[in-house]
Amino acid sequence: MPRIGSDVRRRRRRFLRLGTLPVVVLAWAAAPALGAAADPAAVERGAVIYRGGTCPVCHHWEGQGNRRGPDLTDEEWLHGDGSLAAVRTAIETGFRHGAGRRFGGKYEMWPLGGMELDEGDVDALTAYVWSLHRRRRAADTLTREVVSRIAFGSSADQDRAQPVWDTVLALRPQLTLMLGNSVLAGTEDMQQLRLQYDKLTAKPGFAELRRQSRFLATWNDLDFGREDGGADFEKRAESQEIFLDFWNEPTGSPRRQQQGVYAAQRFGPPGRRLQVILLDTRYGRGPLWRVSPDEARRRELLGMGPYLANDHERARMLSEEQWRWLEEQLRQPADLRLIATSIPFVMEFTGRESWANMPNERQRLIDLVRDTGATGLLLLSGDTPWADVSRLDGEAPYPLWDFTSGPLNRRGTAGIGPNRHRVGQATREPGFGYIEVDWTAADPEVRVEVRSVANRRLLRQTLRLSELQPK
Ligand code: HEC
Repeated sequence: MPRIGSDVRRRRRRFLRLGTLPVVVLAWAAAPALGAAADPAAVERGAVIYRGGTCPVCHHWEGQGNRRGPDLTDEEWLHGDGSLAAVRTAIETGFRHGAGRRFGGKYEMWPLGGMELDEGDVDALTAYVWSLHRRRRAADTLTREVVSRIAFGSSADQDRAQPVWDTVLALRPQLTLMLGNSVLAGTEDMQQLRLQYDKLTAKPGFAELRRQSRFLATWNDLDFGREDGGADFEKRAESQEIFLDFWNEPTGSPRRQQQGVYAAQRFGPPGRRLQVILLDTRYGRGPLWRVSPDEARRRELLGMGPYLANDHERARMLSEEQWRWLEEQLRQPADLRLIATSIPFVMEFTGRESWANMPNERQRLIDLVRDTGATGLLLLSGDTPWADVSRLDGEAPYPLWDFTSGPLNRRGTAGIGPNRHRVGQATREPGFGYIEVDWTAADPEVRVEVRSVANRRLLRQTLRLSELQPK
């Protein structure tokens, strides 16, 4: 049984019930679809059908392919000559019972990917897929896009309703950053972990946002697999694969080869260039030090957690490999940089998971910002049951801001912990983060907010890029 996402399985079942469909498909096969590819509106409509359908499960978000289906953007066509007619035939007839070439018959594709589509849909889909490989040379268009609306969030309880996505959708973010605990799986059983992701896939608002916004994600402990876990988690490699499958990481991506899910991406031309750096604070993280159970209970009343600061010189938040990679990223030119870290960076030591538990590592990042001369940097974090804005002065060459988002759909029960770097009031109201960049200003303005599920502004901070540079 090939391992296939459950939504495909569900659609397959539906397909099986539609006994008459293959006949209809045969009738369509004769219909010429020429002309459609020249029509940009058809290509656009095809893209919507593609993303909204089963195709990304096996061919990735933009046709790059993954381990279940081939790359549709390259020059090489496994079936046919790449003409419009050949692409249409491939989509209509699919590849079943070992008809595939690249995967030795291991993975199949049902006719129309198992979807119900009318003739106009198939025309549009064909036009889109056909156009994909021509666009490859210009692949930078996507990353050349100027990004000015970014949503971010952390901790989504998959066993509850998630109305928050509709609120996020209304803001039309071009980019959505998931800072970890996208599912509160908290299971070390990898089969179970996949099932928890399936629940998230089934949330209509989330599915819609995935269609409309580009997602970049890292993980925290509960989607990693062990509560407050790190390098000691034996199934971390397997868990990484599940994570990357869920987030549709292309087969050839470095994230499929490296240890950990850290990643970086840049958008926009010089002068309006955004860099997003997603850290992995799990895969290579060394052991945490704990206080006694009695002390832990006492701390709980103060909104604090059970950890001690581990100032051992070998205490590690990131692997050495990730540190080297991070240095390279920080040396890349960018105007605004967002570092996404699943746990708070600037927040005062609270005994909960945060960079403050490993002060040497925290200092190392601050030193790296100084040594690389990286400007325009903001930190985005999550994990805490409240949302917070923190500002660190006098340690890096310019103030370091950390915007910590609280849970997306569950009100925290724990008290708000102490934070001497706090700016304004923290809030336990569930919600998400939203950033708007006005690139047109001479000194671009960055508005960072935390909004509630009902779209009320809970926290707000406006910064100028000039404030994120040494004076
Ligand atoms: C369950 C996985 C799966 C799904 C879903 C799926 N495909 Fe495929 N697709 C494949 C496999 C496997 C092949 C054949 C690979 C081979 O020949 O080894 C393929 C081949 C193709 C090809 C031919 C590629 C070539 O190089 O000749 C096209 C075009 C294509 N798919 C488009 C689509 C579209 C459009 C959708 C959505 C309607 C879709 N596929 C859905 C798995 C899938």
